[in-house]
Amino acid sequence: MNRSAVRFGILGPGHIAEKFVTGLAVVPGAVLQAVASRDGARAGEFAARHGARRAYAGYELLAEDPDVDIVYVATPHAFHCEHALMCLEHGKAVLVEKPFALDASQARRMVEAARRNRVFLMEGMWSRFLPATRKARELVDAGEIGEPRMVSADFSFSRPFDPTSRTLDRALGGGGLLDVGIYPLAFASLFFGAHPIETTSFAHLGPTGVDEHAALLLRYEGDRIASLTCGVQALGPYEAHVLGTRGRISLPAFAKAETVRLCHLDRTTEDFSFPFAATGFEHEIAEVVECLAVGRLEHPEMTLDETVALLEIMDGLRRSWGLAYPGEPG
Ligand SMILES: NC(=O)c1ccc[n+]([C@@H]2O[C@H](COP(=O)([O-])OP(=O)(O)OC[C@H]3O[C@@H](n4cnc5c(N)ncnc54)[C@H](OP(=O)(O)O)[C@@H]3O)[C@@H](O)[C@H]2O)c1
Repeated sequence: MNRSAVRFGILGPGHIAEKFVTGLAVVPGAVLQAVASRDGARAGEFAARHGARRAYAGYELLAEDPDVDIVYVATPHAFHCEHALMCLEHGKAVLVEKPFALDASQARRMVEAARRNRVFLMEGMWSRFLPATRKARELVDAGEIGEPRMVSADFSFSRPFDPTSRTLDRALGGGGLLDVGIYPLAFASLFFGAHPIETTSFAHLGPTGVDEHAALLLRYEGDRIASLTCGVQALGPYEAHVLGTRGRISLPAFAKAETVRLCHLDRTTEDFSFPFAATGFEHEIAEVVECLAVGRLEHPEMTLDETVALLEIMDGLRRSWGLAYPGEPG
């Protein structure tokens, strides 16, 4: 790309978009060009607060803006496919918040549109790019824990029950698996790959019809196993561990990890610390800027094939629970 800064547009200025732009502000070579909301006043306030150059009432105006290089789709998951497709068909590069889509069939349509339009597309799996996550992978690759045998990871939180909330409303793609289960799945995938040979699970579907808590077991080639939990109505430890024959790696608050602990067989430990300069999103954004600068159409460490494969796993799990979203075959 032949210019000094990558110009970002924000589609859906909600909770996570605030953290994203706070990260963006510290990334060299990235500028906040525009923001679009369904509500013009909300776009204007967000733009003023974060220094965006333009504010739009309506998402399509953002997709049409020739001065936006990449759109960050930050709406609830039920709209990721529709909003990403709109941008891709306008020739925009797109970064889509996690989970990339409701299911693998939506994800395949998005990937097809990106490849046909020859534009960059990535799932915003920001945890993958955190220095702490990279350190964990580096320690495993260096043999520090011997042979990695198991991954155990939890992402479960609880808020007062509100059936209309994004995390519980089936029409908005509610449920723990899509909202937070994607993190332990992506963490296991980082070490064991995205193609388990067997999965089994239990889930509790609550009164809104979505999974409030779930436990997942995945078996991979080489007798490696991942034991994962997720939920939106149960407070979990929010930790991830890689268990090896000679040690263990642990990441507290693993989806937004700033520390890694290496535990040796004799129970002695070494800690590594990577404090964020801003919100942690700066690492993902820097990777996207680099991809656009060198003309990449996808990120080599968060590929579209992996994103689709993770959704295929989630599709299979939801099928076994009898959980379909509006528009999906029941
Ligand atoms: N990476 C992370 O750590 C992280 C954390 C939390 C959430 N997320 C992901 O980010 C996405 C957004 O989550 P959020 O918590 O930021 O959501 P949110 O604040 O509830 O909604 C985000 C924005 O989406 C827009 N929107 C468009 N259609 C909507 C509809 N029918 N109902 C509600 N909002 C609608 C709204 O913006 P306007 O009305 O202004 O257009 C809203 O402000 C989700 O996919 C979630 O999984 C990621």
